[in-house]
Amino acid sequence: MTGNRFGTLFQYTTFGESHGSAIGCVIDGVPPCISLSEKDIQPFLDLRKPGQSRHTTQRNEEDKVKILSGVFEGQTTGTPIGLLIENTDQKSKDYSDIKDKFRPGHADYTYMHKYGIRDYRGGGRSSARETAMRVAAGAVARKVLEHSIVGDGCLLEESNCPQNKLQNKLQIRAAVIQIGTECINRDNWDWDQVHQNSFFSPDFEAAVHWVEYLDMVRKRSSSAGAIVEVYASGVPAGLGAPVYDKLDADLAKAMMSINAVKAVEIGSGFESVILGGEDNADEIRIDSDGVPEFQSNNAGGILGGISSGQDIVVRVAFKPTSSILMSRKTIDVDGNETDIITKGRHDPCVGIRGVPVVEAMMACVLADHWLRYKAQCL
Ligand SMILES: Cc1cc2nc3c(=O)[nH]c(=O)nc-3n(C[C@H](O)[C@H](O)[C@H](O)COP(=O)(O)O)c2cc1C
Repeated sequence: MTGNRFGTLFQYTTFGESHGSAIGCVIDGVPPCISLSEKDIQPFLDLRKPGQSRHTTQRNEEDKVKILSGVFEGQTTGTPIGLLIENTDQKSKDYSDIKDKFRPGHADYTYMHKYGIRDYRGGGRSSARETAMRVAAGAVARKVLEHSIVGDGCLLEESNCPQNKLQNKLQIRAAVIQIGTECINRDNWDWDQVHQNSFFSPDFEAAVHWVEYLDMVRKRSSSAGAIVEVYASGVPAGLGAPVYDKLDADLAKAMMSINAVKAVEIGSGFESVILGGEDNADEIRIDSDGVPEFQSNNAGGILGGISSGQDIVVRVAFKPTSSILMSRKTIDVDGNETDIITKGRHDPCVGIRGVPVVEAMMACVLADHWLRYKAQCL
């Protein structure tokens, strides 16, 4: 099976299955002499791990990461970084009654067509358990970015960066802005709220309402989709390329590769269609410090595939969880029509736990493009 590797210069390969003994990744291309320990990675995994609230799956994985290689005396050595998480809460019996049936909305049917063999326990390689390793790789990507863009090893020449004043704070942060039919009120947006509620909501009132809403969804044995919005601020201008390696194209691919993601928007996205060019194209002025300043950000921080120095803004739509307690029509491996109810422990809204994964993919794409920028622009 190919397609387990991400990136060009910041490159990682993940391995492992949901119900195997462990999952892991090997990260290649991390520059030497960056401080790194498990403590830099674990907090991000803790945000993604199951069982954090009754609105996420009750599977009880510890998700304790171990660094196997590539770090000496607390610093990266420039060699491949091996990371491992043991699976401690596999309950294969949860899947025994559906082992010969294709779960609607899952990869079971297509996977079987392609490979002719399938680990029915939680989807094998197509299980979202894989996203834990993306979050781990994303934490390392953040270290690369922090070290080289804002930290001790800052490589950026002032002359290379008209948006210099933006770089003192590189931040990648995401929030849930919609669950099912229920949106946040943008006037209530408060980043400090995001880690104060179980939904990563920037709007306290929306989070209170979502408790009721998801309880109602769950009572119907149904599930809900979600939209996650991610911002990368303090990204220098110049990351990306104008043709096939556009920054927005790579971000779209990275986000679309997350399980259950069905749509990605950059900046104004689909909304830009209804704007005239005079409203959509972001005008530019020089601010009082002599720094170029965009008057709006419909482009989502990317022009011609290259970062502009503005916030990079991406929205990611997660479909509703497919495994629900409602009877669904399907077929079995022998081609017989049958019904299925997917018992076991599932997220009623997978988009919630998607938040740290979306942030991680943003970090990985930016770290990759940052290293590519340094490789080309001397
Ligand atoms: C963090 C996370 C957790 C997920 N947990 C579940 C789950 O508990 N039940 C489920 O049916 N799908 C879950 N999914 C989605 C499935 O993995 C995904 O829908 C399935 O592999 C088919 O892939 P596709 O939706 O990308 O086509 C989860 C996705 C993410 C990102």
